Amino acid sequence: MRKPIIAGNWKMYKKFSEAKQFIEEVKGLAPDADKVDSIICAPSLFLQPLVQATEGSTLQIGAQTMHDAKEGAYTGEVSPVQLKDIGINYVILGHSERRQYFNESDVSVNKKVKAAYEHGITPIMCVGETLEQRESGATASIVENQVAAGVAGLAEEQINQLVIAYEPIWAIGTGKTATAEDANEVCGVIRKKIASLYSPEAADQVRIQYGGSVKPANIEELLGMEHIDGALVGGASLEADSFVKLLEAGL
Ligand code: G3P
Repeated sequence: MRKPIIAGNWKMYKKFSEAKQFIEEVKGLAPDADKVDSIICAPSLFLQPLVQATEGSTLQIGAQTMHDAKEGAYTGEVSPVQLKDIGINYVILGHSERRQYFNESDVSVNKKVKAAYEHGITPIMCVGETLEQRESGATASIVENQVAAGVAGLAEEQINQLVIAYEPIWAIGTGKTATAEDANEVCGVIRKKIASLYSPEAADQVRIQYGGSVKPANIEELLGMEHIDGALVGGASLEADSFVKLLEAGL
């Protein structure tokens, strides 16, 4: 039985005062950590104070990206060592917005995934197709290639810890959710790919989230699907009420 993992991705939203207030409202309401992993991936600037603000709560703070080097002359970047040092245990890697606007590629995502493992941070590795790719029938091959490239060089025992987020690009922030069946089908393709690269046991353990216009009204149906173990949520993670409902759906 895979533990559900519900993560909010705040992207570049919220002022610090709003972030703080959100955490104050949600931190007492997050489910038991042995039942659901509850995470908010906040802007880098807010990570350390928010980690402090969640002390004693099951709500965890994650990062939205990181560099693969442990330190160096990389102006503006944040390293896995720095993240781990302040108590960060999850990082989103290869989000489609990072791939689109910041030149991230399967190769750089793979380096970051490996760096995350090296420093004890769980990667939430994002994959997903564009609308054009979906319409041309390329979804499965695109996603399989992204998965294979992203995990290249990882050992089987590392795969057991991996979280993969399937986020069809056409469903992000558009209000268009993939149907639960379509999302499940692609998550099943991902699981099969992990089985073929590693083993059926590894595939059975890897947790796969769906992301793309997830909200309280559709999360239960999505989480009810065989291959969907959680959600990576943008817009609906910005309001405390709605995020709490998303967490409760994981129970
Ligand atoms: O990473 C979450 C994401 O890209 C989906 O965003 O706003 O469609 O839930 P949203």
